[in-house]
Amino acid sequence: MSTSMKAVVIHDYGNSSKLSYEDVPIPEPGPDEVLVKNHFAGLNFIDTYVRQGIMKLVQPGGILGFEGAGTVEKLGSGVQGLCVGDRVAFGFIGTSAYAQYSKVGAKHAVKVPDQLTMEQAASTLWQGFTAHAFACSSYPIKAGDKVLVHAAAGGVGSLITQIAKNTGAFVIGTTSTEAKAAKAREAGADEVILYSQKDFVEEVNRITDGKGVNVIYDGVGKTTFLKDFGCLARRGTVVLFGGASGRPEPLDTSVLAKGSFYVTYGVNFHFVEDPAEYSQRATELFTWLTEGKLKFSGGITVVPLSDVKKAHDMLEGRQTTGKVLLQP
Ligand SMILES: NC(=O)c1ccc[n+]([C@@H]2O[C@H](COP(=O)([O-])OP(=O)(O)OC[C@H]3O[C@@H](n4cnc5c(N)ncnc54)[C@H](OP(=O)(O)O)[C@@H]3O)[C@@H](O)[C@H]2O)c1
Repeated sequence: MSTSMKAVVIHDYGNSSKLSYEDVPIPEPGPDEVLVKNHFAGLNFIDTYVRQGIMKLVQPGGILGFEGAGTVEKLGSGVQGLCVGDRVAFGFIGTSAYAQYSKVGAKHAVKVPDQLTMEQAASTLWQGFTAHAFACSSYPIKAGDKVLVHAAAGGVGSLITQIAKNTGAFVIGTTSTEAKAAKAREAGADEVILYSQKDFVEEVNRITDGKGVNVIYDGVGKTTFLKDFGCLARRGTVVLFGGASGRPEPLDTSVLAKGSFYVTYGVNFHFVEDPAEYSQRATELFTWLTEGKLKFSGGITVVPLSDVKKAHDMLEGRQTTGKVLLQP
């Protein structure tokens, strides 16, 4: 086995030109770690914040990427329950997934069911944990709830839409284009608002006869968050979880008094720090996928790892739906 591999390193924070595809040493798994030969790495919006230095979860000189799937190549000491050759997926910070090989904590390497392809496995955990945590824990969606999902054709948005529909909710999605609206409908959205063309607050109030929605899932941030409270039902909840359009302006808390509203900012890895919770959420996501209750309705796009710059530009340029994978 060679001692070097291809990986995407960030030496300085900045735009996508800072992504350096280069040779680095293959890492050695330590105690309770495994070396995974990655078939795919997952591209996530957080990677763009890390690349820009907005979230310094990777230091200069480090390898980007928090999600992937592949086969176990080597076991560190003390690893139990995993064997060389096992198909595994992982989704956690610090896993340096934009590479041919990743050193991963054994507790984060989940065995992939035979029924799933490696593309599906690599597409599941990071955005899946996010959707699962916010739709099942931050605000557990109930049958009959009215739910607004922003960017409903995106990775997290299309998964939340499906979880909400499976729970028996009525889902309104927002998207920027008609093509994306079709993807959101495929995910199960009952109504889709082109928020690039229409005021989503007016539209949600029209659709709900002025009652508003019980919960809003907002990973768009700057262009949506402060407006969300204009179409929220009494005692409704906003789950903010990202800023694809930029960081939102600060919230004047008197806005919450208009309807005794709740607001939270969810961070997915706070919901999977405990290995038992990590395993439980991963198992449930894989089960839903194998049972067909969850699909990659926005599709899975595979880009060579060497074209990582193009992949980041596509994601930030709103040109993607569903999941984008990088193939080392
Ligand atoms: N807090 C957490 O733990 C956590 C975990 C995972 C993801 N997230 C967040 O969840 C959000 C979605 O992540 P994702 O990976 O699933 O990405 P994604 O939804 O597949 O892509 C982002 C989408 O945001 C929409 N968007 C609206 N304004 C935009 C703008 N100015 N520039 C770019 N995109 C814009 C676009 O959809 P339209 O074109 O339809 O508007 C775009 O496709 C991101 O904010 C991400 O940071 C948070």
